[in-house]
Amino acid sequence: MDIARTPSTADGNPEMADAAHEPHAPVTIRRADYTPPAWLVPEIALHFDLGAGATTVRSELKVVRNPEAERTGNIRLNGDEIEPKSVLRNGAPCESWTMDGNDLLVSIDGEEALISITTELAPDTNSKLMGLYASNGMLCTQCEAEGFRRITFFPDRPDVLSTYTVRMEGDATTFPVLLSNGNKTGEGELEGGRHWAEWHDPWPKPSYLFALVAGDLVALEDSFTTMSGRTIDLAIWVREADLGRTQHAMDSLKKSMKWDEETFGREYDLDVFNIVAVGDFNMGAMENKGLNIFNTKYVLADPETATDGDYDGVEGVIAHEYFHNWSGNRVTCRDWFQLSLKEGFTVLRDQLFSQDMQGEAVKRIEDVRVLRAVQFPEDSGPLAHPIRPDSYQEISNFYTSTVYNKGAEVLRMMRSMAGEERFRKGTDLYFDRHDGEAATCEDFVRAIEEGADLDLKQFRRWYEQAGTPRVSAALKDGELRLTQEVPATPGQPDKQPMVIPLRVALFDRDTGKSSGERLVVLDRAEASFKFEDAPADAVLSINRGFTSPISLDVERAAGDLLFLAANDDDPFARYEALQELVIEHLLAEAGAEGAVHNDAADLAALGEAFGAILDDDALDDQMRGEMLLLPPVAYLCEQVLVADPVALHKAREGLKAWLGGELRERFEALHARASAVPYSLERKARGARKVKTQALAYLAAADAAAAAPRAKAQFDAADNMTDRQGALMVLAGLDRPERKAALADFHERFAGNDLAIDKWFALQAGSLHPDVIEHVKDLAGHADFRLTNPNRVRSLYMAFAANKHGFHAESGEGYRLVADLILQLDPINPQTAARFVAPLGRWRRMAEPHGTMMREQLERIAAADGLSRDTYEQVSRSLG
Ligand code: ARG
Ligand code: ZN
Repeated sequence: MDIARTPSTADGNPEMADAAHEPHAPVTIRRADYTPPAWLVPEIALHFDLGAGATTVRSELKVVRNPEAERTGNIRLNGDEIEPKSVLRNGAPCESWTMDGNDLLVSIDGEEALISITTELAPDTNSKLMGLYASNGMLCTQCEAEGFRRITFFPDRPDVLSTYTVRMEGDATTFPVLLSNGNKTGEGELEGGRHWAEWHDPWPKPSYLFALVAGDLVALEDSFTTMSGRTIDLAIWVREADLGRTQHAMDSLKKSMKWDEETFGREYDLDVFNIVAVGDFNMGAMENKGLNIFNTKYVLADPETATDGDYDGVEGVIAHEYFHNWSGNRVTCRDWFQLSLKEGFTVLRDQLFSQDMQGEAVKRIEDVRVLRAVQFPEDSGPLAHPIRPDSYQEISNFYTSTVYNKGAEVLRMMRSMAGEERFRKGTDLYFDRHDGEAATCEDFVRAIEEGADLDLKQFRRWYEQAGTPRVSAALKDGELRLTQEVPATPGQPDKQPMVIPLRVALFDRDTGKSSGERLVVLDRAEASFKFEDAPADAVLSINRGFTSPISLDVERAAGDLLFLAANDDDPFARYEALQELVIEHLLAEAGAEGAVHNDAADLAALGEAFGAILDDDALDDQMRGEMLLLPPVAYLCEQVLVADPVALHKAREGLKAWLGGELRERFEALHARASAVPYSLERKARGARKVKTQALAYLAAADAAAAAPRAKAQFDAADNMTDRQGALMVLAGLDRPERKAALADFHERFAGNDLAIDKWFALQAGSLHPDVIEHVKDLAGHADFRLTNPNRVRSLYMAFAANKHGFHAESGEGYRLVADLILQLDPINPQTAARFVAPLGRWRRMAEPHGTMMREQLERIAAADGLSRDTYEQVSRSLG
């Protein structure tokens, strides 16, 4: 039996019988139902006759019976919004095919057959951006997870691996460049101004890694010599106007190739590596074999149009997709439940790479901030799922922060327990053993167990149980007492204890020195650890470097956090102590249940701690910038059972204003010092830009009238996007005359530059301005707004949904705006529409009247006719 949506799957499932009465009636796919494919496709040849309005696809599949599967007389070929124009079997027209829903069933008598199918596509009306679609006049593909079935009928599952030969032909003027996976094996002219090219990929791959690009593109070219001395031709393909913004991507690619050789022993395996930048893209980028396709956002960068954060994004995503060549392509996934096998591992690899490029501490803090602001809320809400989910309706909904980021944290814990060297032995064994295979998470864990000599029996629960474990810690007379609790999550009411590694150090309160770090592993509900060498009355530093993705409750003496914020020698732990102090303060300010009341002395101490961060010459500005950032409201909301997002937002802004006033001279001095550092991409200059805008934000919170001209001056003097965007971000939140002028200037300056105009939308939608809702409504009607472009939609509405004071407006208007968007976008691009459900899905954790208003909008969406499977699944889980 096929894991795809077959009637038999539904029949065997009593719950589905009920669901079948509802109009949407989507089928639930279960991990436990996996069976191997009945037929394999060792080879496929594809012929494309390309046109934006009409493309004809002829496939030739060599299919053979899988000796390891149950015998069936039919091969099931998945399809989605396509029809078979002709079906040939062994060269002759085949009459005995049937449709089963979207799938094509072809009967086969013997052990093998040659099946040829013709389909017709209309790329320029494909607004879902899955399969073959048009973007800015070019044609491109996105096949992960299930886009290939929108191109041709095929066993569209990652455990069917084939070698691909692809012939493309089309108009030579419209599509001068024709690219596909692997190496180009031929090309030529045709009559009527047409031409063709043929590509062959020698590495067997699943259909989700197929790619094709046809368009009027130019390339930045370079080459890389691998560790075994082979020369690889590298090219980054863009529209002509963007060619000047590709150097950083190329540099990042070469660094990634070198790093993967040095750090994981992985060498590239084709003669060419192509990257194409596309303006319309649902996600960040895609690791198609030898032909990565990228959202322009993660390719294009120059100082004038890209911020320092954008530069890091390009470097990180280029690395991520390149690293997939081994963790994803050479070893792929058996089924989509194993998604974290490639994504968690590849995120860990890209994080380690970026740590090596940018410095470990700052990168770690950034990664943890994202985890806490996005993954923790996911894990404590209705969409919580283990990093290896047990079921899904639409797999696109499981490209989540849990699968990606928590997945990476789970592997990082293994690495912390094994140590770098032994972990590498484990990954070597994994790559060796499973090269060319479609593997499972279990295969990975077993390889690490054997290669790194680590017992991971109980550790496997990280793959099975959802929810962020809560650990309590108390240190008394040299004894560390730890308890853990894993909260209930949907479908998982009872949890078993996890294996939780924690790096721990004890500090001498008098000398400020630690007696060294050790790793303790908590693997029961409760455990104690004796520290023989503990100084009397020691201060506890725990989960250093964020060893485990948990939340912590530490019993502390007054002054401990201030002590750690000043003395801890682990930069992450030092950052963490200050964050904890701020969180305690803000929860009390917002009147959160159980929070200890603030007094003036607490606030003064906080002011001094921030003052010390500003004064500390030993801190570099990159780290100073991290320490000055107040915890995001999304993470503050996680600290309490039921949150009042508006009160937390106000408390956070209030603290910002107070610090900005209290430390005004020092922030002004910092702004002046940082403004004097000339632009470069060196760490020092980047750090200066980071603290420059932060200083501005604090000053603006304290005194808008005084800060507005300063912000406008930064805007006008800017010779780079980091400074300009930073200044505009501050101005966008101020009800001052400078705001309008700067916004108009920015829009005019960057007219026609989509990525910069995206920023212009996002800054306004994410602003602190009191009229932000009106602004968002106006922007939705702006001539530059397009529902068909995911980057533009996200720049307006994701920025808004993350903007607590807009989204959670007392009127409920913010919720309504996002629900309206979901309903409008769903028929156009369901994958992107479904991403907007999660913010509303937080309703159970939000104080009234917010919770009810959010739920009402979800109910309104649920009642709509013809909802996509994507949105339906997210909405029903959110209400369930
Ligand atoms: N594998 C891609 C990555 O590098 C993500 C592609 C997912 N695309 C999608 N439409 N679901 O993370
Ligand atoms: Zn990935």
